Amino acid sequence: MLTISRLTVVSLLAATAAFAQNSTANTTLGPNVDGKYEISAEGIRGLFIPYGASISNLFINDTNGIERDIVLGFDNASHYSVDAFHPHLGGVPGRYANRIKNSSFVIDDVEYHVTPNENNGEDTLHGGPDGWDYRNFTVVAHTSDSITFSIVDPDGKEGFPGEVISYITYTMTPNAWHLKMVALATTKKTPIMLSSHTYWNLDAFANPDTPTALNHTVHLPYSGQRVGVDGILIPDGTILPNQQYSVNDFWSAPKQIGANFTAPELDGNCGTNCIGYDTCYLVNRAQNGPYDWRTAGPVATAESEFTGISVSIFTDQEAFQVYSCGGQNGSLPIKSTQGLQGRPRVVEQYGCLVFEVEDWIDAINQPEWQREKRQIFGPGDDPYVLEARYEFSVKS
Ligand SMILES: *[C@@H]1O[C@H](CO)[C@@H](O)[C@H](O)[C@H]1NC(C)=O
Ligand SMILES: *[C@@H]1O[C@H](CO)[C@@H](O)[C@H](O)[C@H]1NC(C)=O
Ligand SMILES: *[C@@H]1O[C@H](CO)[C@@H](O)[C@H](O)[C@H]1NC(C)=O
Ligand SMILES: *[C@@H]1O[C@H](CO)[C@@H](O)[C@H](O)[C@H]1NC(C)=O
Ligand SMILES: *[C@@H]1O[C@H](CO)[C@@H](O)[C@H](O)[C@H]1NC(C)=O
Ligand SMILES: *[C@@H]1O[C@H](CO)[C@@H](O)[C@H](O)[C@H]1NC(C)=O
Ligand SMILES: *[C@@H]1O[C@H](CO)[C@@H](O)[C@H](O)[C@H]1NC(C)=O
Ligand SMILES: *[C@@H]1O[C@H](CO)[C@@H](O)[C@H](O)[C@H]1NC(C)=O
Ligand SMILES: *[C@@H]1O[C@H](CO)[C@@H](O)[C@H](O)[C@H]1NC(C)=O
Repeated sequence: MLTISRLTVVSLLAATAAFAQNSTANTTLGPNVDGKYEISAEGIRGLFIPYGASISNLFINDTNGIERDIVLGFDNASHYSVDAFHPHLGGVPGRYANRIKNSSFVIDDVEYHVTPNENNGEDTLHGGPDGWDYRNFTVVAHTSDSITFSIVDPDGKEGFPGEVISYITYTMTPNAWHLKMVALATTKKTPIMLSSHTYWNLDAFANPDTPTALNHTVHLPYSGQRVGVDGILIPDGTILPNQQYSVNDFWSAPKQIGANFTAPELDGNCGTNCIGYDTCYLVNRAQNGPYDWRTAGPVATAESEFTGISVSIFTDQEAFQVYSCGGQNGSLPIKSTQGLQGRPRVVEQYGCLVFEVEDWIDAINQPEWQREKRQIFGPGDDPYVLEARYEFSVKS
C-alpha cells in the first residue's frame, strides 16, 4: 500500500510551487493575454485555466486542414468567475462529482450532511455550491506540453469531512490529451469522485447544416447497462439494461446522438420533461479477462462527419456519463474561435455533448454496489486516481 504523509504532500507541494514560479518566469510559459495556459504536441493544442482546472480551448486540424476549437468555454479566463451561471464548463467537479441523494451519506455509522445546490435543496451536484470547479486551482508546474494544477480542499468545506489535497495533470502527446487526477484524504475518511466535465462540439459550431451536436456519432462498446435514476436524476438503486435497438443502446453499434430523438422512450430519459441523455452508462469489460485500460480499446468514441474529427476515450474508470445538452437554451456564448458567420454566436439546445469519465454515480448511497474502495478514502489509504486519454484522429 502506498502511504503518503501530509508532510510529504506539503513539501512536494512547496517544491513544485517553486518549480512553477521558475517556469512561469519564462514568459513563453506563463498565462497568455486571456489568462490561459497553453500546452501542445504535434496535431493538438490546448488552453487551460486555474478556475476549476478547466480546459477552455482544444484545437485540432480537421479533414480540410482547418483548425477547429472543439470544446466549449469562454474567451477570457477572468469571465468564468464573473458568470456564476456557467454550467461547469470544462472543469473538474469535486470533491464528489454528480449528485448526492438527499445531500447526505453515512461513513462508519456517522451521517454527514453536505450543502445542497440543486432541485430546491433536494440534492448536492458536483461537490456543492462552491465545488472545485468554482474555485481557482494553483498552477504548480507548466511546461510546453504539460500542466499540473493543485487544490487543497479544507476539512468541513461544503460539509465534507476531512481535508483533501489533489493534483490534476494534463499532458499532450501527438494527437492525444492525457488526464491524470490524484487526490489524497489527509485527515478523515471522505467520499472522493472526480471527473472532467468537458463540453464538446466536434464541429466547432461551424457546420452549416446544424448548430447542434445531434449528428455526432457515438459508440460505447462496453455499456450494456446504465444506472437507473428518478425524475431529478438521482440514482434509485437499480441497474438497467440497455436492450439492443433501444434508445440507450450505444453498445451494439455506433449511432448518432439524435438517431432516436423522435422515439417516445426518449422523453423523460434525462429526467422529468427532458428529451435526450443525461445518463450514467456502466463500463463492463472485466468479463473479457484482465485488461489494461491503456490498450484495451476506448470506452467511448465520438465522431463528426462534417469535420471528420473523431475522439476515442480510453480510461481506467468504470462508468461514463453522457449529457446531450438539453438544458442549453441559447444563453451561453460560443468563443471567438468558433461559429459560422451569420448565425447567432450562442450554444443552442443540443448544441453540445458532455462526456464524463467517472465511477458509478452516488455509489456512496448504494452500499450494495460495493464501490467503497473506489469512492471512500482516508488517511493512509492509496490515493484516489483517475486516468484517461482522449485520442484524436481525422478522416482523410
Ligand atoms: C530556478 O531557476 C534558477 C535559475 O535558473 C535556478 O538557480 C534555481 O535552482 C531554480 N529553482 C528551482 C526550484 O528550480
Ligand atoms: C522558455 O520556454 C521555451 C519553450 O519551452 C524554451 O524554448 C526556452 O528555452 C525557455 N527559456 C528559458 C530561459 O528557460
Ligand atoms: C481579459 O480580462 C481581463 C480582466 O477583465 C482584462 O484585464 C484583459 O484585458 C482581458 N483580455 C483580453 C485579451 O481582452
Ligand atoms: C494546423 O495546421 C497548421 C498549418 O499546417 C499548423 O500551423 C497548426 O499548428 C495546426 N494545428 C494543430 C492544432 O496542430
Ligand atoms: C435526509 O436528510 C435529512 C436532513 O438533511 C435527514 O434528517 C434524513 O434522515 C435524510 N433522509 C434519508 C432518507 O437519508
Ligand atoms: C480566480 O482568479 C481570477 C484571476 O486572478 C480572478 O479574477 C477571480 O476572481 C478568481 N476567482 C475566484 C473564484 O477566486
Ligand atoms: C443529421 O441528423 C438529422 C436528424 O437526426 C438527420 O435527419 C440527418 O440525416 C442527419 N444528417 C447527416 C448528414 O447525418
Ligand atoms: C434508434 O436508432 C437506431 C439507429 O438508427 C435504430 O436502429 C433503432 O431502431 C432506434 N430505436 C428506437 C427505439 O427508435
Ligand atoms: C436559459 O438558461 C439560463 C441558465 O440556466 C437561465 O438563467 C435562463 O433563464 C434561461 N432562459 C430562458 C429564456 O429560458
